[in-house]
Amino acid sequence: MIKPNHVFLAACRRQQTSYTPVWLMRQAGRYMEEYRKLRRQYGFLELCKKPDLAAEIAVAPVERLGVDAAILFADILLILEPMGVGLEYSKSDGPVIHHPVRSGKDVDGLKDFEPEKELSFVYDAVKKISKALKNKVPLIGFAGAPFTLASYLIEGGGSRNYVHTKKLFYTAPEAWKRLMERLTKLTSEYLNCQIAAGAEAVQLFDSWAGCLTPSDYEQFVLPYTRAVIDAIAPGVPVINFTTGTAGSLKHIRAAGGAVIGFDWRVNLDEAWEAVGYDIAVQGNLDPVTLYASPKEIKNRVAEVLRRAGARPGHIFNLGHGVLPETPVEHVIAMVEAVHEISAR
Ligand code: CP3
Repeated sequence: MIKPNHVFLAACRRQQTSYTPVWLMRQAGRYMEEYRKLRRQYGFLELCKKPDLAAEIAVAPVERLGVDAAILFADILLILEPMGVGLEYSKSDGPVIHHPVRSGKDVDGLKDFEPEKELSFVYDAVKKISKALKNKVPLIGFAGAPFTLASYLIEGGGSRNYVHTKKLFYTAPEAWKRLMERLTKLTSEYLNCQIAAGAEAVQLFDSWAGCLTPSDYEQFVLPYTRAVIDAIAPGVPVINFTTGTAGSLKHIRAAGGAVIGFDWRVNLDEAWEAVGYDIAVQGNLDPVTLYASPKEIKNRVAEVLRRAGARPGHIFNLGHGVLPETPVEHVIAMVEAVHEISAR
Protein backbone atom coordinates (compact mmCIF):
# COMPACT_ATOMS: atom_id res chain seq x y z
CA MET A 1 0.00 0.00 0.00
CA ILE A 2 1.30 3.43 -0.91
CA LYS A 3 0.63 5.93 1.84
CA PRO A 4 -1.24 8.91 0.34
CA ASN A 5 1.43 11.19 1.77
CA HIS A 6 4.02 9.54 -0.43
CA VAL A 7 2.48 10.15 -3.84
CA PHE A 8 5.71 11.85 -4.86
CA LEU A 9 7.82 8.71 -4.24
CA ALA A 10 5.19 6.51 -5.90
CA ALA A 11 5.32 8.70 -9.02
CA CYS A 12 9.15 8.50 -9.04
CA ARG A 13 8.67 4.73 -9.20
CA ARG A 14 6.01 5.01 -11.94
CA GLN A 15 3.26 3.64 -9.72
CA GLN A 16 -0.36 4.78 -10.17
CA THR A 17 -1.29 7.67 -7.87
CA SER A 18 -4.68 9.24 -7.12
CA TYR A 19 -3.40 12.63 -8.35
CA THR A 20 -0.23 14.09 -9.86
CA PRO A 21 2.28 15.16 -7.19
CA VAL A 22 3.73 18.65 -7.45
CA TRP A 23 6.63 20.61 -5.95
CA LEU A 24 8.63 23.57 -7.24
CA MET A 25 12.31 24.09 -7.74
CA ARG A 26 13.39 27.01 -5.51
CA GLN A 27 10.13 26.70 -3.58
CA ALA A 28 12.04 27.90 -0.50
CA GLY A 29 13.27 31.31 -1.52
CA ARG A 30 12.98 35.00 -2.11
CA TYR A 31 9.36 35.11 -3.37
CA MET A 32 8.29 34.14 0.19
CA GLU A 33 7.99 36.80 2.86
CA GLU A 34 9.08 34.29 5.54
CA TYR A 35 12.40 33.90 3.68
CA ARG A 36 12.92 37.61 2.99
CA LYS A 37 12.38 38.34 6.66
CA LEU A 38 15.17 35.95 7.67
CA ARG A 39 17.41 37.34 4.92
CA ARG A 40 17.17 40.82 6.43
CA GLN A 41 18.91 39.38 9.48
CA TYR A 42 21.32 36.83 8.00
CA GLY A 43 23.55 36.37 4.97
CA PHE A 44 22.65 33.57 2.55
CA LEU A 45 25.64 31.36 3.48
CA GLU A 46 24.93 32.01 7.13
CA LEU A 47 21.35 30.71 6.68
CA CYS A 48 22.67 27.59 4.93
CA LYS A 49 24.98 26.94 7.90
CA LYS A 50 22.33 27.31 10.59
CA PRO A 51 20.40 24.01 10.47
CA ASP A 52 17.50 25.31 12.60
CA LEU A 53 16.87 28.21 10.23
CA ALA A 54 17.51 26.13 7.11
CA ALA A 55 14.90 23.67 8.38
CA GLU A 56 12.40 26.44 9.04
CA ILE A 57 12.88 27.75 5.47
CA ALA A 58 12.50 24.29 3.91
CA VAL A 59 9.34 23.41 5.82
CA ALA A 60 7.52 26.75 5.27
CA PRO A 61 6.50 26.08 1.63
CA VAL A 62 5.11 22.65 2.51
CA GLU A 63 2.72 24.26 4.98
CA ARG A 64 1.98 27.35 2.92
CA LEU A 65 1.69 25.85 -0.59
CA GLY A 66 0.42 22.31 -0.03
CA VAL A 67 3.17 20.77 -2.19
CA ASP A 68 3.86 17.02 -2.19
CA ALA A 69 7.57 17.17 -1.38
CA ALA A 70 10.03 19.34 0.54
CA ILE A 71 13.48 20.20 -0.78
CA LEU A 72 16.49 20.70 1.42
CA PHE A 73 17.46 24.36 1.89
CA ALA A 74 21.09 24.65 0.76
CA ASP A 75 22.89 25.54 -2.48
CA ILE A 76 24.67 23.57 -5.19
CA LEU A 77 27.84 25.63 -4.68
CA LEU A 78 28.37 24.81 -0.97
CA ILE A 79 30.49 21.82 -1.97
CA LEU A 80 32.99 24.16 -3.64
CA GLU A 81 33.77 26.18 -0.51
CA PRO A 82 35.99 23.57 1.26
CA MET A 83 38.09 23.33 -1.93
CA GLY A 84 39.50 26.73 -0.98
CA VAL A 85 38.36 28.65 -4.08
CA GLY A 86 36.79 31.59 -2.21
CA LEU A 87 33.01 31.24 -2.61
CA GLU A 88 30.99 34.38 -2.01
CA TYR A 89 27.36 35.30 -2.68
CA SER A 90 27.58 38.91 -3.75
CA LYS A 91 24.55 41.18 -3.56
CA SER A 92 24.60 42.31 -7.19
CA ASP A 93 26.32 39.56 -9.20
CA GLY A 94 25.11 36.31 -7.64
CA PRO A 95 27.70 33.69 -6.67
CA VAL A 96 31.40 34.46 -7.21
CA ILE A 97 34.43 32.16 -7.04
CA HIS A 98 37.40 34.38 -6.23
CA HIS A 99 40.08 31.91 -7.37
CA PRO A 100 38.76 30.26 -10.53
CA VAL A 101 40.31 27.05 -11.85
CA ARG A 102 41.78 27.54 -15.33
CA SER A 103 44.60 24.97 -15.74
CA GLY A 104 45.83 21.52 -14.73
CA LYS A 105 47.95 23.21 -12.07
CA ASP A 106 44.86 24.92 -10.63
CA VAL A 107 43.00 21.58 -10.60
CA ASP A 108 45.82 19.93 -8.66
CA GLY A 109 45.90 22.85 -6.23
CA LEU A 110 42.28 22.31 -5.12
CA LYS A 111 42.06 21.32 -1.46
CA ASP A 112 41.06 17.74 -0.73
CA PHE A 113 38.34 17.29 1.87
CA GLU A 114 35.82 14.82 3.23
CA PRO A 115 32.23 15.86 2.45
CA GLU A 116 31.11 13.79 5.43
CA LYS A 117 32.99 16.12 7.79
CA GLU A 118 33.11 19.53 6.10
CA LEU A 119 29.46 19.67 5.09
CA SER A 120 27.97 18.25 8.29
CA PHE A 121 25.73 21.34 8.68
CA VAL A 122 23.83 20.16 5.58
CA TYR A 123 23.14 16.72 7.08
CA ASP A 124 22.07 18.38 10.33
CA ALA A 125 19.56 20.42 8.32
CA VAL A 126 18.33 17.23 6.60
CA LYS A 127 17.75 15.61 10.00
CA LYS A 128 15.89 18.63 11.34
CA ILE A 129 13.72 18.97 8.23
CA SER A 130 12.84 15.25 8.27
CA LYS A 131 11.82 15.50 11.87
CA ALA A 132 9.71 18.63 11.30
CA LEU A 133 7.95 17.06 8.28
CA LYS A 134 6.64 14.23 10.48
CA ASN A 135 6.44 11.93 7.47
CA LYS A 136 3.80 14.17 5.88
CA VAL A 137 5.74 14.54 2.64
CA PRO A 138 9.14 13.19 1.55
CA LEU A 139 12.32 15.26 1.62
CA ILE A 140 14.38 15.72 -1.54
CA GLY A 141 18.13 16.20 -1.15
CA PHE A 142 20.17 17.71 -3.99
CA ALA A 143 23.54 18.54 -5.46
CA GLY A 144 24.94 20.19 -8.56
CA ALA A 145 25.99 17.78 -11.30
CA PRO A 146 29.74 17.70 -12.03
CA PHE A 147 29.45 19.79 -15.21
CA THR A 148 27.46 22.67 -13.70
CA LEU A 149 29.79 22.70 -10.67
CA ALA A 150 32.84 22.69 -12.96
CA SER A 151 31.40 25.61 -14.94
CA TYR A 152 31.17 27.75 -11.78
CA LEU A 153 34.66 26.71 -10.65
CA ILE A 154 36.20 27.51 -14.02
CA GLU A 155 34.26 30.64 -15.01
CA GLY A 156 34.32 32.05 -11.47
CA GLY A 157 30.56 32.66 -11.53
CA GLY A 158 27.66 32.59 -13.95
CA SER A 159 28.52 32.77 -17.65
CA ARG A 160 27.04 33.54 -21.04
CA ASN A 161 29.31 31.55 -23.38
CA TYR A 162 31.25 29.19 -21.06
CA VAL A 163 34.45 30.02 -22.95
CA HIS A 164 36.89 29.04 -20.17
CA THR A 165 35.00 25.84 -19.39
CA LYS A 166 34.94 24.64 -22.99
CA LYS A 167 38.53 25.75 -23.54
CA LEU A 168 39.64 23.51 -20.68
CA PHE A 169 38.15 20.36 -22.21
CA TYR A 170 39.26 21.31 -25.75
CA THR A 171 42.84 22.15 -24.82
CA ALA A 172 43.55 20.26 -21.58
CA PRO A 173 41.38 17.13 -21.64
CA GLU A 174 43.54 15.45 -18.98
CA ALA A 175 43.01 18.33 -16.56
CA TRP A 176 39.28 18.27 -17.36
CA LYS A 177 39.18 14.55 -16.58
CA ARG A 178 40.94 15.00 -13.23
CA LEU A 179 38.58 17.84 -12.26
CA MET A 180 35.44 15.93 -13.28
CA GLU A 181 36.59 12.77 -11.50
CA ARG A 182 37.08 14.74 -8.31
CA LEU A 183 33.69 16.44 -8.55
CA THR A 184 32.06 13.07 -9.30
CA LYS A 185 33.48 11.45 -6.18
CA LEU A 186 32.65 14.42 -3.92
CA THR A 187 29.10 14.73 -5.29
CA SER A 188 28.21 11.07 -4.87
CA GLU A 189 29.59 11.01 -1.31
CA TYR A 190 27.75 14.22 -0.48
CA LEU A 191 24.41 12.89 -1.79
CA ASN A 192 24.82 9.58 0.03
CA CYS A 193 25.45 11.49 3.29
CA GLN A 194 22.20 13.43 2.70
CA ILE A 195 20.43 10.10 2.14
CA ALA A 196 21.94 8.62 5.30
CA ALA A 197 20.62 11.66 7.20
CA GLY A 198 17.07 11.16 5.86
CA ALA A 199 16.68 12.45 2.27
CA GLU A 200 14.28 10.07 0.46
CA ALA A 201 15.05 11.15 -3.10
CA VAL A 202 17.78 13.32 -4.62
CA GLN A 203 17.87 15.75 -7.51
CA LEU A 204 20.99 16.38 -9.55
CA PHE A 205 20.96 19.90 -11.03
CA ASP A 206 22.83 20.16 -14.32
CA SER A 207 21.34 23.58 -14.95
CA TRP A 208 23.84 24.70 -17.57
CA ALA A 209 24.33 21.47 -19.57
CA GLY A 210 22.30 23.08 -22.37
CA CYS A 211 25.32 25.17 -23.44
CA LEU A 212 27.00 22.02 -24.81
CA THR A 213 26.79 20.34 -28.21
CA PRO A 214 25.20 16.89 -27.91
CA SER A 215 28.50 15.20 -28.68
CA ASP A 216 30.45 17.29 -26.15
CA TYR A 217 27.80 16.37 -23.57
CA GLU A 218 28.23 12.71 -24.50
CA GLN A 219 32.03 12.77 -24.36
CA PHE A 220 32.88 15.24 -21.59
CA VAL A 221 29.89 15.15 -19.23
CA LEU A 222 27.72 12.04 -19.53
CA PRO A 223 30.26 9.55 -18.06
CA TYR A 224 30.62 11.62 -14.87
CA THR A 225 26.90 12.25 -14.36
CA ARG A 226 26.32 8.54 -14.88
CA ALA A 227 29.04 7.67 -12.36
CA VAL A 228 27.40 9.92 -9.73
CA ILE A 229 23.98 8.37 -10.32
CA ASP A 230 25.39 4.82 -10.32
CA ALA A 231 26.98 5.45 -6.92
CA ILE A 232 23.75 6.57 -5.22
CA ALA A 233 22.34 4.25 -2.54
CA PRO A 234 20.13 1.65 -4.31
CA GLY A 235 16.37 2.25 -4.25
CA VAL A 236 16.62 6.02 -3.77
CA PRO A 237 15.10 7.81 -6.79
CA VAL A 238 17.43 10.25 -8.56
CA ILE A 239 15.94 13.13 -10.56
CA ASN A 240 18.25 14.06 -13.43
CA PHE A 241 17.45 17.72 -14.18
CA THR A 242 18.94 19.76 -17.02
CA THR A 243 17.83 22.79 -19.03
CA GLY A 244 18.20 23.53 -22.73
CA THR A 245 18.99 19.93 -23.64
CA ALA A 246 16.17 19.13 -26.09
CA GLY A 247 18.80 18.03 -28.64
CA SER A 248 20.56 15.70 -26.20
CA LEU A 249 17.66 13.83 -24.59
CA LYS A 250 18.92 10.38 -25.53
CA HIS A 251 22.23 11.16 -23.83
CA ILE A 252 20.43 12.60 -20.79
CA ARG A 253 18.49 9.36 -20.50
CA ALA A 254 21.72 7.37 -20.86
CA ALA A 255 23.24 9.37 -17.99
CA GLY A 256 20.61 7.76 -15.77
CA GLY A 257 18.12 8.65 -13.06
CA ALA A 258 14.69 7.27 -12.17
CA VAL A 259 13.17 10.61 -13.22
CA ILE A 260 14.19 12.98 -16.02
CA GLY A 261 13.47 16.68 -15.37
CA PHE A 262 12.59 18.92 -18.35
CA ASP A 263 12.59 22.68 -18.74
CA TRP A 264 9.67 24.47 -20.51
CA ARG A 265 11.34 24.71 -23.91
CA VAL A 266 10.08 21.24 -24.86
CA ASN A 267 6.55 19.86 -25.06
CA LEU A 268 6.24 17.33 -22.24
CA ASP A 269 4.69 14.60 -24.43
CA GLU A 270 7.41 14.90 -27.09
CA ALA A 271 10.24 14.98 -24.53
CA TRP A 272 8.74 12.01 -22.67
CA GLU A 273 8.54 10.05 -25.91
CA ALA A 274 12.17 10.95 -26.66
CA VAL A 275 13.48 9.63 -23.33
CA GLY A 276 11.05 6.71 -23.37
CA TYR A 277 7.76 6.15 -21.56
CA ASP A 278 9.48 3.52 -19.39
CA ILE A 279 10.98 6.25 -17.18
CA ALA A 280 9.37 8.88 -14.93
CA VAL A 281 9.49 12.57 -15.85
CA GLN A 282 9.26 15.91 -14.06
CA GLY A 283 8.12 19.30 -15.33
CA ASN A 284 7.56 21.58 -17.02
CA LEU A 285 5.51 24.78 -16.67
CA ASP A 286 7.31 27.99 -17.72
CA PRO A 287 8.12 29.78 -14.40
CA VAL A 288 6.96 33.09 -15.94
CA THR A 289 3.44 31.60 -16.28
CA LEU A 290 3.11 32.32 -12.55
CA TYR A 291 3.04 36.05 -13.33
CA ALA A 292 -0.21 35.53 -15.30
CA SER A 293 -3.73 35.48 -13.85
CA PRO A 294 -4.82 32.43 -11.82
CA LYS A 295 -7.25 31.61 -14.68
CA GLU A 296 -4.45 31.59 -17.25
CA ILE A 297 -2.22 29.61 -14.85
CA LYS A 298 -4.96 26.98 -14.61
CA ASN A 299 -5.25 26.73 -18.42
CA ARG A 300 -1.53 26.20 -18.75
CA VAL A 301 -1.42 23.65 -15.93
CA ALA A 302 -4.17 21.78 -17.76
CA GLU A 303 -2.10 21.82 -20.95
CA VAL A 304 0.96 20.27 -19.24
CA LEU A 305 -1.29 17.64 -17.61
CA ARG A 306 -2.95 16.91 -20.95
CA ARG A 307 0.46 16.28 -22.48
CA ALA A 308 1.38 13.98 -19.56
CA GLY A 309 -1.76 12.05 -20.51
CA ALA A 310 -2.30 10.57 -17.01
CA ARG A 311 0.52 8.06 -17.61
CA PRO A 312 2.03 6.88 -14.31
CA GLY A 313 5.32 8.57 -13.47
CA HIS A 314 4.67 12.29 -13.94
CA ILE A 315 5.78 14.75 -11.25
CA PHE A 316 4.51 18.27 -11.88
CA ASN A 317 7.05 21.07 -11.48
CA LEU A 318 8.17 24.26 -13.16
CA GLY A 319 10.71 23.98 -15.95
CA HIS A 320 13.23 25.84 -13.72
CA GLY A 321 13.22 27.64 -10.37
CA VAL A 322 10.47 29.99 -9.12
CA LEU A 323 11.42 33.59 -9.89
CA PRO A 324 11.87 36.04 -6.99
CA GLU A 325 8.92 38.35 -7.87
CA THR A 326 6.36 35.55 -8.19
CA PRO A 327 3.17 36.19 -6.14
CA VAL A 328 2.77 33.44 -3.53
CA GLU A 329 -1.02 33.35 -4.17
CA HIS A 330 -0.33 32.37 -7.77
CA VAL A 331 1.92 29.52 -6.66
CA ILE A 332 -0.86 28.28 -4.38
CA ALA A 333 -3.33 28.54 -7.31
CA MET A 334 -0.95 26.45 -9.42
CA VAL A 335 -0.61 23.71 -6.79
CA GLU A 336 -4.40 23.60 -6.33
CA ALA A 337 -4.95 23.43 -10.08
CA VAL A 338 -2.54 20.49 -10.42
CA HIS A 339 -4.29 18.57 -7.64
CA GLU A 340 -7.79 19.37 -8.87
CA ILE A 341 -7.33 18.73 -12.59
CA SER A 342 -5.26 15.55 -12.15
CA ALA A 343 -7.54 13.89 -9.51
CA ARG A 344 -8.49 10.41 -10.74
O1 CP3 B 1 14.87 24.73 -4.36
C1 CP3 B 1 14.95 25.16 -3.20
O2 CP3 B 1 14.07 25.86 -2.69
C2 CP3 B 1 16.13 24.72 -2.35
C3 CP3 B 1 17.24 25.61 -2.29
C4 CP3 B 1 18.11 25.88 -3.50
C5 CP3 B 1 18.84 27.10 -3.62
N1 CP3 B 1 19.64 26.98 -4.71
C6 CP3 B 1 18.78 28.23 -2.69
C7 CP3 B 1 19.27 29.56 -3.11
C8 CP3 B 1 18.44 25.08 -4.60
C9 CP3 B 1 17.92 23.71 -5.00
C10 CP3 B 1 19.43 25.78 -5.35
C11 CP3 B 1 20.07 25.24 -6.56
C12 CP3 B 1 20.98 26.08 -7.35
N2 CP3 B 1 21.85 27.04 -6.90
C13 CP3 B 1 21.16 25.95 -8.74
C14 CP3 B 1 20.46 24.95 -9.61
C15 CP3 B 1 19.06 25.37 -9.91
C16 CP3 B 1 18.99 26.50 -10.87
O3 CP3 B 1 18.35 27.49 -10.51
O4 CP3 B 1 19.51 26.35 -11.96
C17 CP3 B 1 22.13 26.90 -9.14
C18 CP3 B 1 22.62 27.14 -10.55
C19 CP3 B 1 22.56 27.57 -7.97
C20 CP3 B 1 23.61 28.63 -7.86
C21 CP3 B 1 23.07 29.89 -7.31
N3 CP3 B 1 22.73 30.09 -5.99
C22 CP3 B 1 22.80 31.09 -8.01
C23 CP3 B 1 23.03 31.30 -9.50
C24 CP3 B 1 22.33 32.02 -7.08
C25 CP3 B 1 22.05 33.50 -7.28
C26 CP3 B 1 21.00 33.78 -8.24
C27 CP3 B 1 19.66 33.33 -7.78
O5 CP3 B 1 18.90 32.75 -8.57
O6 CP3 B 1 19.33 33.57 -6.61
C28 CP3 B 1 22.25 31.36 -5.82
C29 CP3 B 1 21.73 31.91 -4.54
C30 CP3 B 1 20.57 31.20 -3.92
N4 CP3 B 1 20.43 29.85 -3.79
C31 CP3 B 1 19.45 31.84 -3.30
C32 CP3 B 1 18.64 30.81 -2.79
C33 CP3 B 1 17.38 30.95 -1.98
C34 CP3 B 1 19.22 33.32 -3.17
C35 CP3 B 1 20.11 33.86 -2.14
C36 CP3 B 1 19.60 35.16 -1.59
O7 CP3 B 1 18.77 35.11 -0.68
O8 CP3 B 1 20.10 36.21 -2.03
